[in-house]
This record gives sequence, C-alpha cells and structure tokens, in this order.
Amino acid sequence: MILNTMVTLRPMLPVDVDPAADMILSHDWGVRREFLAFATGQAACAPMVADVDGAIVGTGVGTLNGSVGWIGTIFLSPEWRGEGIGRAITQSIIDRLESSGARTFVLVATADGRRLYSKMGFEVQTRYRILEAPGLGSGDRSAANAAAGGVRPFEPGDLDAMAALDRDGTGEDRRHVLARFATPDSARVLPGPGGTVDGFVVRAPWGGGATVARSLDRAMAIITERRLKAGPGGRVRVGLLQDNEAGLARLAEAGFAPSWSAPRMIRGDPMAWHPDWIWGQFNHAIG
Ligand SMILES: CC(C)(COP(=O)(O)OP(=O)(O)OC[C@H]1O[C@@H](n2cnc3c(N)ncnc32)[C@H](O)[C@@H]1OP(=O)(O)O)[C@@H](O)C(=O)NCCC(=O)NCCS
Repeated sequence: MILNTMVTLRPMLPVDVDPAADMILSHDWGVRREFLAFATGQAACAPMVADVDGAIVGTGVGTLNGSVGWIGTIFLSPEWRGEGIGRAITQSIIDRLESSGARTFVLVATADGRRLYSKMGFEVQTRYRILEAPGLGSGDRSAANAAAGGVRPFEPGDLDAMAALDRDGTGEDRRHVLARFATPDSARVLPGPGGTVDGFVVRAPWGGGATVARSLDRAMAIITERRLKAGPGGRVRVGLLQDNEAGLARLAEAGFAPSWSAPRMIRGDPMAWHPDWIWGQFNHAIG
C-alpha cells in the first residue's frame, strides 16, 4: 500500500531484518534482530515495514494465535512520527490477521502507543506486571530443590499436553511457537496426572520465558527451578497479569521486585482465558 508519495507499507522480508533492527536499535528501543528474523520466517506472523525510498522508517509485527491476534513492535523512526504511519501499520496488521481468522486483537501498550490504540478502538483489559529476582545460591538450595520437585526437561511427547494447557490458560493457540522453541534445553515441564501437563516454561532465543501453570504452587515450582538454574549470579524475570493478586503476593514474599508494568489492551470479541495461569511471555508481539 502506498501511503503518500514517499511512504510504502509492505510485508517485512528476511532481507529487511538487519536494517529494521538497526533502525530500532539506533533509537534505543532494544535488540530486536532475532525476533524479527523469527517473525519473517513464521507462517503465523505478519511483520510489516514502512519504507521510504528503500529505507525502513517503521516496523510492526502481528502474530495469529488461533482466533487471537497479537500486535507489537510498532515503532516509527522519530522524524516520521505524527504522520499517520503508526496507525496505518497497525491497521494493516489488523487487516492481515483478520483475513486469516483473528476475531480478537491484543497488545501491550507504551504511553505513546496507548493514545494511538485508544483512537483505534482498543480498551485496557488488564495490566502486565514484570518482576525480577536473583537466582538461588547454595544456601537456599535444599528448600528450593524441594519446592521445585517434579519439574523436568521437556520431552517431545509433551507438546500436545502443553498446547492444551496453554490454550486453556491464554485463550489462544500458540502451538506454532511452542513447537518452534521447546527443546530439552529451552523448556521445563511439570507433568500432571494421566499424561497432562500442569505447568511449563519455554524460553525464546531472545530471552523471553513463556510460562503457564494451572496453580500458584505449580507456577512457583517452575519459577524456583528457574532460579536454581540461574544460580546466584543470574536473574530471573517473570510477567504476571495484575488479576493474579495471590501470585504477586507470593512472588514478593519470595524476593521478587517490580521492574516494569504496562497495560494490556484488547479490541474485538471477548476471550475465555485464565489470566492467573500466566507467569511469563515470549514477548509482547506473540504473547
Ligand atoms: C506510538 C507510535 C508508533 C505512533 O506512531 P505515529 O506514526 O507517530 O502515530 P500516528 O501519526 O499514526 O498517530 C495515530 C494517532 O495517534 C495519535 N498519537 C500518536 N502518538 C501520539 C502522542 N504521542 N500523543 C498524542 N497523540 C498521539 C495521533 O494524534 C493520531 O490520531 P488521529 O489518527 O486521530 O489523528 C510512535 O510514537 C512510536 O514509534 N513510539 C515509540 C515506540 C512505541 O512506543 N511504540 C508503541 C508500542 S506499543
């Protein structure tokens, strides 16, 4: 789509990943290369760029998780803001996801983004609270080992049960991401009765750790195992919804401190989910 004589919106291609990531990094909005490379190769993702004479001045990524579409990494180079390009990128992602079956759209908004998305019909659904704690050292190990009991490395046969738990927890179908990233090194599983899975964490290559667990105790087992693995020099980050008051209180007791918070916004059909089963994200353009 040609927005005006200078700006073209088009799907992001693998060849665009380096210039897009460089543009974002040059404005201190984080290291996005690995995520953008993933998005250009994943059928469920709809990555877009705004292009001016071959130079990338804006980005956005949508992800289709069943009937739920995520929108993220909406970024405009500062000199191109206020011209309607951010809105056009967001709308083009909504259109692409909708034509593939999305009925609900969700995103995590910055302060700049919130103004734009409110004008586009998004409403605040809840808030994410991101917390951090140091890993656990030798002094804490025996109690922590007991707390983390039952958590084991991922096995390929876990995938269906993980996807089922994930669907109940998030209200989305993220099997395509779980299948891409879950390996015995990157994922831990807490088995449940009869071949079910009661909790899991799957790390993405860029560092996020999607975590879903059916109860507070099961989530704490997974988080404690992560802290043991990180060791005393490491740090562990979790992301909860503010609806999960019991989880936030337990994590504060366990030494987690708030590091970041932002609204989650929604547009479209309401979703059936369990916000208190969610303890970590892949990132905010996938969920
Ligand atoms: C948020 C961002 C993508 C908006 O892009 P943009 O191209 O400047 O936005 P647009 O020009 O398309 O503006 C769309 C609408 O939002 C409004 N808007 C956008 N930014 C605004 C701001 N900072 N304050 C008030 N209104 C704002 C515009 O007035 C416009 O409203 P209108 O369509 O009714 O006229 C851009 O500011 C940006 O890259 N920010 C840094 C990264 C970021 O925070 N991204 C959002 C991630 S959730």
